[in-house]
Amino acid sequence: MTARILAAALLGLAPWVALAAPNAAEGKKLVEASKCETCHHNKTQGDAKAVYLRKDRKVTSMAQLKTQVARCNTELNLSLFPEDEEHIVVFLNDTYYKFAAQ
Ligand code: HEC
Repeated sequence: MTARILAAALLGLAPWVALAAPNAAEGKKLVEASKCETCHHNKTQGDAKAVYLRKDRKVTSMAQLKTQVARCNTELNLSLFPEDEEHIVVFLNDTYYKFAAQ
């Protein structure tokens, strides 16, 4: 009986584990759901994406991208999990920054 419950629980976990690898599509959804771009739009007074592409942008490496996503998350109390941050980093990098993966 216990073994059967355990097996069911493990099976239930399998798809979740598969999703845990950083995934740009997931990151895109999280960026939309977290309203990241609404706030960036206010800051740049124009195209919501301009914050990532502006000439004097802050982020110039993969490490800085991770730090900045974490900073926006923590300081603004967005309550994203570390896995969520990884999805977002992959999405922003694939779409805008294009740093070599690390
Ligand atoms: C309440 C406002 C606000 C929200 C919400 C917000 N940010 Fe930001 N973010 C900022 C501001 C302001 C800056 C510019 C900081 C600066 O210029 O020093 C910024 C900058 C950034 C940058 C760096 C851009 C560059 O210069 O290269 C990244 C990446 C970023 N945010 C990601 C995110 C992500 C991802 C989310 C959502 C999970 C998010 N932010 C949500 C306010 C916000």
